[in-house]
Amino acid sequence: QKLEMELDSIEKGGYEHFMLKEIFEQPRSILDSMRGRLELVAGHLNMGGIRAYERKFMNAERIIIVACGTSWHAGLVAEYLLEDLARIPVEVEYASEFRYRNPVITERDIVIAISQSGETADTLAAIELAKSKGATIFGICNVVGSSIARATDAGAYTHAGPEIGVASTKAFTAQVTVLTILAMIVGHKRGTLSDTRLRELMVELGSIPAKVEKALLLNDEIEAIAQTFKDVPNFLYLGRGYNFPVALEGALKLKEISYIHAEGYPAAEMKHGPIALIDENMPVVVIATKDSSYEKVVSNIQEVKARKGRIIAVVTEGDDVIPQMAEFVIEVPATSEVLVPLVSVVPLQLLSYHIAVLRGCNVDQPRNLAKSVTVE
Ligand code: G6P
Repeated sequence: QKLEMELDSIEKGGYEHFMLKEIFEQPRSILDSMRGRLELVAGHLNMGGIRAYERKFMNAERIIIVACGTSWHAGLVAEYLLEDLARIPVEVEYASEFRYRNPVITERDIVIAISQSGETADTLAAIELAKSKGATIFGICNVVGSSIARATDAGAYTHAGPEIGVASTKAFTAQVTVLTILAMIVGHKRGTLSDTRLRELMVELGSIPAKVEKALLLNDEIEAIAQTFKDVPNFLYLGRGYNFPVALEGALKLKEISYIHAEGYPAAEMKHGPIALIDENMPVVVIATKDSSYEKVVSNIQEVKARKGRIIAVVTEGDDVIPQMAEFVIEVPATSEVLVPLVSVVPLQLLSYHIAVLRGCNVDQPRNLAKSVTVE
């Protein structure tokens, strides 16, 4: 018994749960996912998997991304990235809907399948369908040699290492890292991303592990916030632009492990429904980093405040406007707008973790959920 407990604690590297260990591993797993790909000194980017398919990516009329769960959220971030940097139209699909929808797919389409486990049944079936229509399939998986990795024409692994906690954390940031590099390479090749901009983004991407490290220092502060909200029945998460998928991911993390009902919404859509829910009991997490939609998000915060909602804002370090409006402020390091999800998601992972622990939930193995879903 004692030995078993000791072994368990060694596996968790001294952390109380795998999820916390995995959240804290992110500076390392992001770096590992860049290794050999981001070559700052030489000044170039490599991705072995796309070399043979460069022409395809250059001429792609459309990219379709298929995935489930957290991987689908990484796909949404990739939509913004690929459209911004490479100017290719992107559609992001739930694999389970795509496979049964009689979708229009041609040989000129590239399908990117994203999966941590590489075993998700719906994602695998979506790949087989797209393949049968002649599309090129590119996989982004974490588990080497997994079914999805084997079913794709080419791909790139996320080097996140084994993820044990059912709620995905470091796999998400590794996926976003790989997708960012992919979008940068394709954008540069297509001429939509200039040499200068590429160089700037490369340097900024190189600094992300250190910024994530800094965001992790917020742990105690976030635990205190969790204490305040651990007994609420509902949460709303709002974000715009690159932070919209982050809002969805923050809400999903909370649902998965704390069993609190949470919804993620694009901040501007709030007025078309969720605003009706806001009163003095509703905590609203707003991801409001300094980017092109900042001013608009500030207005959204004012709308929540006018209805007495309880605002927890994730802001860029040094922001002196939002702290005057929000009940709680979580400051993350500044980064380029296109890289912001890699940093802004971290406090949301920690918030859900601490709320779940305080509620006495089984964080690593939440009820009714499986790490890899091999049935449809
Ligand atoms: C399950 C897991 C999630 C994961 C999803 C997709 O629901 O609990 O954490 O995001 O499957 O899994 P995949 O392995 O395809 O990324």
